[in-house]
Amino acid sequence: MTPPPAGAVVTGAGRGLGRLLAALLVERGYRVLVTDIDEAAARATAQRLGPDVLWATVDVRDEEQVAAARDHVMTEAGRLDIWVNNAGVLATGPAWEQPPEARRLMLEVNALGTINGTVTAIEAMRDAGGHIVNIVSLAGLTAVPGEAVYAASKHAAIGFSLSTLADLRLAGIEDIDISCVCPDGIWTPMLHDKLDDPASALSFSGRLLQPTDVVTAVRKVLDRPRPVTSVPGWRGLQVRLADAFPGLGLRALPLMVARGRRVQHRMSARLRQGA
Ligand SMILES: NC(=O)c1ccc[n+]([C@@H]2O[C@H](COP(=O)([O-])OP(=O)(O)OC[C@H]3O[C@@H](n4cnc5c(N)ncnc54)[C@H](O)[C@@H]3O)[C@@H](O)[C@H]2O)c1
Repeated sequence: MTPPPAGAVVTGAGRGLGRLLAALLVERGYRVLVTDIDEAAARATAQRLGPDVLWATVDVRDEEQVAAARDHVMTEAGRLDIWVNNAGVLATGPAWEQPPEARRLMLEVNALGTINGTVTAIEAMRDAGGHIVNIVSLAGLTAVPGEAVYAASKHAAIGFSLSTLADLRLAGIEDIDISCVCPDGIWTPMLHDKLDDPASALSFSGRLLQPTDVVTAVRKVLDRPRPVTSVPGWRGLQVRLADAFPGLGLRALPLMVARGRRVQHRMSARLRQGA
């Protein structure tokens, strides 16, 4: 008999996609620990989601804070079933124009934060198994002009996740899954201030997703773990084709950037009219 749901942790759950993923896990009956570097946001999300929802301030760059979150949920729920590494940051522009702190921040939050969360969750899941869901990005699968360091951090996250999944299986550990979800641009606060930013055009070049589209994908992954899920699936295929033929892919990128700029202008005009 499958045991009832126990503990779940979502990082960066104070707003955006993470907040909705925490809501999904609450709806599924998990005892959810909402974490974020932003204390007020973590607290407000937990309060919104219900009286039993836990919250903690956690900077995913700090291994000790991440371990404390694991211990917190284990104490309250008895077992850790799900860990979602969702926290992420994006600073745009060519790498050589970015301040070193911005480059370091993206690598530390997006890559090291995912590594910290995954390792910490594995330690807690060794006895009873569990599922780690890593929110990556299509930028983890292909070249993204204007978001080069972000893409590097997300490639690191996916390379680490898939390699660790293989290590688990080689070690004979079959009951811990790692699923990477790689969405196209999502209309969350991460992009809300990027409509006038040419460097983030590629985030707008596909079908701009609503956060609920990604929640639907995560819902499916929770039911059936998969190493990599692109959202939407056709964009995953498109970027993998571009990677298979990098020369062609690079030639197509200016067209994609132009398309993204058109979408940004259209959305910007629409928002101005609505204002
Ligand atoms: N919005 C997009 O277009 C898009 C596309 C693909 C993937 N993603 C990924 O989805 C995830 C969620 O992003 P979002 O769009 O909801 O962005 P968001 O900016 O709305 O939310 C990110 C959250 O992460 C938190 N955070 C930042 N640094 C942190 C740290 N050091 N420790 C803990 N929390 C921290 C923020 O406080 C915020 O609550 C990220 O990993 C992002 O890279 C976003």
